[in-house]
Amino acid sequence: MKDQNNNLLLTPALNEFSAREIQTFAEDLEKTNQKNDQKKDTLQQEFSTQIKVAVMTRLGIPHVRIAQRLNIHRKTISKYAQKNQELFNKIHQEFKSGTSIPDMAQKYNAPQPLVWSVILEEKTDQERFKCLNWGLRAWDNWYFNDVDHRFGDPWPGRIPAQLVAHTLFYFTKQNDLVLDPMAGGGVVADTCLAFNRQCLSFDLLDRVKTRPEIEPFLWDPENLAWPLPSGKKPDLIFFDPPYFKKMAAHYMKGSISDFSKPQYLSFFRNIFSLMREQSKPTTLMAFLNADFRDFQGIPAVNENPDNAILMFTYAKLLETCGWKITHLMDCPLSTERFTGNMVNRMHEKRTLGIVRRTLIIGKPDILHKQEL
Ligand SMILES: C[S@@+](CC[C@H](N)C(=O)[O-])C[C@H]1O[C@@H](n2cnc3c(N)ncnc32)[C@H](O)[C@@H]1O
Repeated sequence: MKDQNNNLLLTPALNEFSAREIQTFAEDLEKTNQKNDQKKDTLQQEFSTQIKVAVMTRLGIPHVRIAQRLNIHRKTISKYAQKNQELFNKIHQEFKSGTSIPDMAQKYNAPQPLVWSVILEEKTDQERFKCLNWGLRAWDNWYFNDVDHRFGDPWPGRIPAQLVAHTLFYFTKQNDLVLDPMAGGGVVADTCLAFNRQCLSFDLLDRVKTRPEIEPFLWDPENLAWPLPSGKKPDLIFFDPPYFKKMAAHYMKGSISDFSKPQYLSFFRNIFSLMREQSKPTTLMAFLNADFRDFQGIPAVNENPDNAILMFTYAKLLETCGWKITHLMDCPLSTERFTGNMVNRMHEKRTLGIVRRTLIIGKPDILHKQEL
């Protein structure tokens, strides 16, 4: 059965399935819906070296890193700087004469966020929200119905760019450096382009053709290393790791989503400590995650808390590792992922699902440092 967008829906025979089968079905359903979602996104294409240099330079990536990543000479980067300035001037002119951003992105074979970063030059953050047609929330509930398909690639666990933009608005200023240690589809880097923040991004997966700004890097639990040069301390770490178990089937080997609960928690203890060590006193941490409860097909009263990891646990770990929590933001997931039949089944069994997702903001705890 499909909805009006050709998305797969659960069939009425759902109550015949076990909890595991429902989970597998839900995962297949998410995969199919993601494929349909991809059609809404611009086709992923390889960009020219000139455009790659433009993106990476505007994100503040040091020339030596760009040269290494693109396997080009540093002089070539300077050569492109001139050409890119000419391109940016053309973009400004064409925008004034009414050409749309998607049309310019297509014409110059450039990612839309790069075009936005040019168009929005000199604008304040508030003006940028307006131009992007995003409301600016003045409170701590950041619910967004859908991802914004202009920012980031289709990706399991892709987050709305508006969520990142709100974090940048409240907790950073223009030209600040953001670190995205597990960048996935690149929503954080894209939003940084649109909001004039520098950004260094890392992920397991290497996609140099389409995402040269995301450097391949493994946060190896056996040997945790720090990928930034020693002089570069981030102003904000935007940390959106794979949630426990939820996406296991989608990620490749090496992903922390394949870890057991003790491994997963030990990984966070070590990485939170490393991040604290590598931060400056003004660095902020933005950590996004959701409760994990093994709730599927189980009445809420019978859930086993030993299988759960609640946000409370991450908060405690952060504090143990020297981060003082300053804000908790509700960033709920859409309830649309529970189809009508699933909901009926959950009512019957008194099963309680999860839509609460939380962004924890923390800053280095100076007192904790003294204790070390
Ligand atoms: C939830 S996704 C990030 C989604 C991203 N914020 C977006 O909106 O597209 C988490 C990412 O962490 C990466 N990852 C998981 N384990 C990793 C590891 N040990 N080292 C580096 N990256 C890892 C995965 O490849 C995945 O892309």
